[in-house]
Amino acid sequence: MTSINEQPIPAARPVIGEDEIEAAVRVLRSGRVVQGPEVAAFEEGFSRLVDGRHCVAVNSGTSALHLLLLALGIGPGDEVIVPSFSFAASANAVRLVGADVVFADIEPGSFGLDPAAVEAAITPRTAAIMPVHLYGHPAAMDKLMPIAEKHKLAVVEDACQAHAAALNGTPVGAFGAGGTFSFYPTKNMHSLEGGMVSTADAELARTLRLLRNQGMEQRYANEIVGANMRMTDVSAAVGRVQLAKLEGWTEQRRANAAYLDAHITAPNVITPPVAEGARHIYHQYTVRIQGDRDAAMARLTEAGVGNAVYYPTPIHRLKPYWEPDQKAGRTWDLPETEKAAAEVVSLPVHPSLTEGDLARIVTAVNSLGESL
Ligand SMILES: Cc1ncc(COP(=O)(O)O)c(C=O)c1O
Repeated sequence: MTSINEQPIPAARPVIGEDEIEAAVRVLRSGRVVQGPEVAAFEEGFSRLVDGRHCVAVNSGTSALHLLLLALGIGPGDEVIVPSFSFAASANAVRLVGADVVFADIEPGSFGLDPAAVEAAITPRTAAIMPVHLYGHPAAMDKLMPIAEKHKLAVVEDACQAHAAALNGTPVGAFGAGGTFSFYPTKNMHSLEGGMVSTADAELARTLRLLRNQGMEQRYANEIVGANMRMTDVSAAVGRVQLAKLEGWTEQRRANAAYLDAHITAPNVITPPVAEGARHIYHQYTVRIQGDRDAAMARLTEAGVGNAVYYPTPIHRLKPYWEPDQKAGRTWDLPETEKAAAEVVSLPVHPSLTEGDLARIVTAVNSLGESL
């Protein structure tokens, strides 16, 4: 039970501190509020996280995925291989450009696409693979990239949860044709709302810049059909403040995760494995509960430990995917996805946790014992 003077520990704690507020007010006073100097500076700053790739800021992670697929020319008739164990935005972006989603299963350890399942899902219509670096753990890019190269497929990295994660020294967002990031408030860094696309291809970056702004580089000289997915300078200014703090926050998350790894001993709680060579940045610290998950979550909540399931329903079971598949008589064989959706629980790992919070989380988790 939470005692009277113990506040519940939230699952996430977005930071909007004085620095962020000052930056936002400074921009508002400047009068340059949309896609101005702050956006340009944010793009330049962020490119250091992705090995100097070109960065194009947009208004959300979903827009980043959507525009990247459009810029790559992916559309009707194409298939994109996506994990079903992700946030719906990953698959929604594919549907929004009129392409077909093909679900592939995940590896149980990294929760990312299983390379063998991806290879088995390739057809003559496959245009791209979308690895999702779920929870901040890099997908198996060392195995996925050679598969993509062999079959001449584009790789669209959904790094929306994985700012500054890396595999064998290469940061996520620097492997594929393009990477996408989200700056939603609960992410490891935010810009209120916002997103970023990274790419090594200057021509693709130019297309992305056109697409986010009605197809214009010069005002009213529209070159292609585009949308309005611009980032505001207020968002970019907040994003820049957060970007400067990201590395410290990431190290704090990693230290918090190391503490939890070392102290969680309940036999029916599996702590998150980390692949060799992976830099996990713990957007989520996600354990598997082998037993009654609902009961475990209720007991954690009672002990004042925030917890949440990302994601209880795999995308292929959500109505917009499930119903058309049912109609077409299409089924997916995704045993690891189903298992993960039934077992995972994310515990607090955010940088605002105190030593006392960490100890309380461990006590609550270990007291789950073998009774589940
Ligand atoms: C894996 C994944 N992909 C895409 C998105 C979409 O990002 P946004 O919410 O900024 O549109 C999110 C964020 O919630 C996400 O977690």
